[in-house]
Amino acid sequence: MTRVLSGIKPTGHLTLGNYLGALRRWVEVDQHRSEALFCIVDLHALTVDHDPARVRRLTRRAATLLLAAGLDPERCTVFVQSHVDEHTRLSYLLECVATDGEMRRMIQYKEKAARERQRGRSVRLSLLTYPVLMAADILAYGADEVPVGDDQTQHVELARDLAVRFNQRYGHTFVVPRATRPKVAARVMNLQEPTSKMGKSDDSGPGIVHLLDEPETVRKKIMRAVTDSGRDVVHDREKRPGITNLLEILAACTGGDPKELCGAYASYGALKKDTAEAVVEVLKPLQARHRELCADPSYVDAVLRAGAERARRTARPTVDAAYRAIGLLPA
Ligand code: TYM
Repeated sequence: MTRVLSGIKPTGHLTLGNYLGALRRWVEVDQHRSEALFCIVDLHALTVDHDPARVRRLTRRAATLLLAAGLDPERCTVFVQSHVDEHTRLSYLLECVATDGEMRRMIQYKEKAARERQRGRSVRLSLLTYPVLMAADILAYGADEVPVGDDQTQHVELARDLAVRFNQRYGHTFVVPRATRPKVAARVMNLQEPTSKMGKSDDSGPGIVHLLDEPETVRKKIMRAVTDSGRDVVHDREKRPGITNLLEILAACTGGDPKELCGAYASYGALKKDTAEAVVEVLKPLQARHRELCADPSYVDAVLRAGAERARRTARPTVDAAYRAIGLLPA
């Protein structure tokens, strides 16, 4: 059976980008056809300036939202990364396989390090080594597939490279994983700045739809989305990024094809209205279930405890094998 692993970082409130790029597929496809593990990668939230209480709060909130979106603990394993020591145990070994040059070439490192410097903050070493920890997240579980949005492609490529290199040097230990991406909305863009990704760490801006936004807020944000000069509705990422983003969101929410949808709209206003309603409809059941789950935090805790237990059992043999293969004396 195919094994799938993916993760989400508790650095901000989950967005429509997280949902359409990753979470929805985990719920609708991955948990049904594979042995699937999904983790809230809290250690990754410590790579930039952070508030401890907020990370704790966002970790619980992300776990609750994953369940509210429809991940079923009977079908898949939902857990918190820091509850399973195998991630950091393996990460160090992979640091001994990765190179400094590889880390410095990572696009997200370059962007985030520049942002930290701009804000007058020093860049944490963990921001540089982050992709190695992410590779450990994946390789510890022998995952065949990693369902992610477009922005994670380079990180999954690194995990592949490290797996191949480790296997060549020390003997076959790791499954070589591959990224899978959704057909539409693999990169949902910021509604106010449609050439930048809709990112949760950028916080509350009017260009970001959060999964828990009230319907009126969602409508307002989408109706005020920046559109392009011109009037006709065409799908063209380069020349019409604003309209293309709305077409992708609408197609993802309604199961349509963004290029075919163009013909159905004579004006930007009508497209915005339908997109807003489609997003509101998609979020409605998730928000209702979230309210129920918030009333029962002990259920979420129990799911995470059982998930960590299962995750540990799955990862341990592979990580132990890696320790032996690389030359460490068994304890
Ligand atoms: P994170 O927390 O930034 O995002 C979680 C998932 O959501 C996708 N995503 C998007 N997809 C489409 N459009 C967007 N605007 C958008 N924003 C986010 C991401 O591609 C991702 O799939 N490094 C990872 C977390 C991670 C991980 C892992 C993922 C750590 N270890 C192991 C997979 C496997 C991250 O920061 O995702």
